[in-house]
Amino acid sequence: MTIDYQADAVDPGELDEDPILELGKWYEMARGSGDMLPEAMSLATVSSGGVPSVRIVLMRGFDARGVEFFTSYDSPKAADMQVNPKVSLAFHWKPLYRQIRIEGTAARLDPTESKIYWDTRPHGSRLAAIVSTQSAPVDTWEELANQVTVLEKEYPEGSDVPLPDTWGGFRVAPTRFEFWLSRPSRLHDRFQYDPVEGGWSITRLQP
Ligand SMILES: Cc1cc2nc3c(=O)[nH]c(=O)nc-3n(C[C@H](O)[C@H](O)[C@H](O)COP(=O)(O)O)c2cc1C
Repeated sequence: MTIDYQADAVDPGELDEDPILELGKWYEMARGSGDMLPEAMSLATVSSGGVPSVRIVLMRGFDARGVEFFTSYDSPKAADMQVNPKVSLAFHWKPLYRQIRIEGTAARLDPTESKIYWDTRPHGSRLAAIVSTQSAPVDTWEELANQVTVLEKEYPEGSDVPLPDTWGGFRVAPTRFEFWLSRPSRLHDRFQYDPVEGGWSITRLQP
């Protein structure tokens, strides 16, 4: 069975000159689309040895400075970004038949900014982030759960849990965007934003 997925057409004249504002419009649409995790995005990094790696992270904010997510600073992805801060992001919103790709340069958030987000996280998630060395091997799940139980005595529910220096945010300062939407007969429509003096150029791309 062939399914001819398609999104509503986009009039190029209605695209915002600022891709971050266009991202905001599409993200709002995604939030209202029934997509269970509209903030989920793929993050691609490249290791010091040139090996690419991709995984899902949750977008936690965006503004003129870029797109933010939070993670472990001792994770493999953080090690990749330490040596090669050039990364790529992709949102795919299935109910909308739309995708946004972003290329950019990742930099750590200031710890004071990370602490503001850290304090909004559920208590258990903060303790779990402290005990976990992300992507390091572990023998049993209980091993980590026990460490959380021990930590709960030090930091009971409602207490201030300090931000560990092994955890925080990254902001991806964008250098290119591509907005993609599915159209009939796979004659898809794509709009690429590239930086130019004082703003962005928009180029329509073939499917
Ligand atoms: C829906 C979903 C959301 C996720 N969100 C995050 C996130 O916001 N931050 C994070 O560090 N990992 C998140 N993960 C886990 C990552 O995909 C990945 O497994 C983990 O960060 C380790 O990646 P690394 O070994 O490449 O550093 C998420 C996974 C899924 C499936």
